[in-house]
Amino acid sequence: MTLKEYKVIVEQELDKVFADNTLAQNIIFESSRYSLLAGGKRLRAIFLLEFCRLFSGSYEKAVPFARAIEMIHAYSLIHDDLPCMDNDDFRRGKPTNHKVYGEAMALLAGDNLLNGAYEIMLEESIKGPEFAKAGFTMARAAGGYGMIGGQVLDIKEGIKTEDELRLMVSLKTGRLFYAACMAGAILGGADEEQLKKVESYAENLGLAFQIADDILDVTGDFEKLGKPINSDEENEKYTFVSVYGLEKAKEKVYELTDIAVNAVSDIEGSELVVNIANSLRDREN
Ligand code: IPE
Ligand code: IPE
Ligand code: MG
Ligand code: MG
Ligand code: MG
Repeated sequence: MTLKEYKVIVEQELDKVFADNTLAQNIIFESSRYSLLAGGKRLRAIFLLEFCRLFSGSYEKAVPFARAIEMIHAYSLIHDDLPCMDNDDFRRGKPTNHKVYGEAMALLAGDNLLNGAYEIMLEESIKGPEFAKAGFTMARAAGGYGMIGGQVLDIKEGIKTEDELRLMVSLKTGRLFYAACMAGAILGGADEEQLKKVESYAENLGLAFQIADDILDVTGDFEKLGKPINSDEENEKYTFVSVYGLEKAKEKVYELTDIAVNAVSDIEGSELVVNIANSLRDREN
């Protein structure tokens, strides 16, 4: 399976989410779908599918979880863009959810996407222990011990050291990468030793990914990025770029990507995840 083929599958799957438009409260499904189906690289879903395939030969088991992780990710973006957070007007090349539906509905659309994701994970969890474990891994990674915890550190002032910066980034972005890769590997039946490799891949790549995002916030092209540039500076964010400058930040991206790639390169069939990691180093969106 290629990246393109995976993306097609993910889009088809996501199109099934909240597809009923006959109910009185239909606006919540419309606003949820507005953000969920607005495009995006679909990386987290693809990691879920590919790590499942890598260890089991088939990605099928992971499909509902791939849907769920993109729903969690979309919710996190809707809330991240709200005026009380980053106050951004564009996402994935379109006006942000609150710009179209208003803040109250954007808040609810995020909540609805998160709830929908849990519904899927709970429904799956009764199929067996690995399904429950995959769901638990994603739930843990999304909450206050994971992505939400990182968002808290992001808005809270007082990060001073590189360790503190790394912690913030590894929680706000790294944890969902971790959840995607690990849930896929768990569903695929990876053993402890293999899971350790996947963990190292996901954590280092997650960090590299967010540093690249911070670089793009400065050097990126709005048309390609689909979201505003200079948002971090406007919000006086503490990022790898603001602290270490562009060159050092770029070096970090390469360094961390190499660590991620090395962690999985000896796993047979890992070419796609290796290629994805390398292609993200110099991404433009
Ligand atoms: C954006 O994630 C938020 C970050 C963690 C930097 P992506 O860059 O994966 O966003 P989409 O899904 O492709 O829009
Ligand atoms: C990551 O940080 C956002 C989430 C964890 C949702 P950013 O605030 O830098 O993400 P973008 O740049 O808005 O996509
Ligand atoms: Mg943010
Ligand atoms: Mg933001
Ligand atoms: Mg950013």
